[in-house]
Amino acid sequence: MSNNIIVLGAGVTGLTTAICLLRDGYKNVTVLSKHVPGDISSEYASPWAGASILTVANHDDYRLQEMDGFAAKEFKRLADEEPEAHVQYCNGIQYSEQPGAPGEDVYWVRKIYSNVKEIPKDKLIPNVAYGYTFQSYTTNVPEYLKYLVRTLKKLGGHLQRQSFESIQEVIEQYTDVDTVINCTGLGSYYLKDVQDHTMYPVRGQTVTVRAPHIKTQHYIDGADRWTYIIPRGDGTVICGGTVDRVNRQTSPDDEITKSILERVYNLYPEITHGKGVDAFDIVAINVGFRPGRAGGIRLEKEIRRRSNGQKVTLCHNYGHSSHGFQSSWGASNKLVQLLNNERISKL
Ligand SMILES: Cc1cc2nc3c(=O)[nH]c(=O)nc-3n(C[C@H](O)[C@H](O)[C@H](O)COP(=O)(O)OP(=O)(O)OC[C@H]3O[C@@H](n4cnc5c(N)ncnc54)[C@H](O)[C@@H]3O)c2cc1C
Ligand SMILES: *[C@@H]1O[C@H](CO)[C@@H](O)[C@H](O)[C@H]1NC(C)=O
Ligand SMILES: *[C@@H]1O[C@H](CO)[C@@H](O)[C@H](O)[C@H]1NC(C)=O
Repeated sequence: MSNNIIVLGAGVTGLTTAICLLRDGYKNVTVLSKHVPGDISSEYASPWAGASILTVANHDDYRLQEMDGFAAKEFKRLADEEPEAHVQYCNGIQYSEQPGAPGEDVYWVRKIYSNVKEIPKDKLIPNVAYGYTFQSYTTNVPEYLKYLVRTLKKLGGHLQRQSFESIQEVIEQYTDVDTVINCTGLGSYYLKDVQDHTMYPVRGQTVTVRAPHIKTQHYIDGADRWTYIIPRGDGTVICGGTVDRVNRQTSPDDEITKSILERVYNLYPEITHGKGVDAFDIVAINVGFRPGRAGGIRLEKEIRRRSNGQKVTLCHNYGHSSHGFQSSWGASNKLVQLLNNERISKL
């Protein structure tokens, strides 16, 4: 057994998975990817994220709750110990237009966030069902992705740009590899073998504005749209957003931009010091596509064969939808456990 591992995909999922494998003692981990940090493409979700470190798990989705809880601990460690990761503590306000189902604990997030406090009904803004204040983290995404690449390399991992048409092509070309991890996000649209039809793109449009006075994160969740304000820690703020399964337009839509800025202003007028919607200092307008998946993140392993009959372990870690950053360390940790169960020896 050679113990060489290839991780396919250099988004937040692939990079975090590779780091977790190296930390667990695997020696030769190579990330191969069509896109790498620094690239901007509508086929590459990671650069477009806010990124807030929250949880979007339902109150009874214990699998995702466990992953997000695990990840939150790692983000706390990064905020405390590794300033070059560009992860910072951030207080937040969460509102929801949708009441929870009867009997549902809408405040279960206190298991994951700190300082969760319910906002009394008479202090809520109009048209919301409930709200709470809390503390979690935000990351500066471009800086955080660069930090992941540096960490990968420090641990002895490799990153190389390469595109494949199928997983089979990877294992035929790299004959000394016994494990491949599939972290290709929306790559299902481009990989030929076993196209996963549970995957779908979810368009997100955001506006980056300069607003250094904004130090808290704000969210209001509706049935089919989210409005949010995510400070990145460098004076810029990500304003969003949309959650759109229909629109496939890769360029910004002016009407949507207008709607985002109006919703954001109404949520927190302080963002332009109360000077109205025209006073936003716009830095960029962004469009990205989240790797949506029915059934949530796919964490599975299977055995593939090369044309010469050799067995290769194939593991999957994809379909992170709107929460690839906040679930990253938790999903990757589970992936390593899954792989360890499969392999007899790893050194
Ligand atoms: C507007 C917006 C806001 C968001 N906000 C947040 C947020 O606040 N918090 C949060 O946690 N998440 C957020 N997300 C979601 C987050 O961006 C995604 O969940 C995450 O980036 C998915 O990462 P990934 O590594 O799985 O996929 P990707 O980043 O898409 O990476 C996939 C990689 O696979 C490579 N690849 C694919 N096919 C092939 C192939 N055939 N050969 C070689 N390489 C291949 C690609 O080149 C790419 O490098 C947001 C997303 C959007 C669009
Ligand atoms: C590490 O793995 C790659 C393939 O993934 C291989 O090309 C390389 O030779 C391996 N290096 C060592 C030192 O085994
Ligand atoms: C690899 O992941 C993609 C999702 O990015 C999925 O659609 C595809 O089926 C996976 N490949 C294989 C061989 O299972």
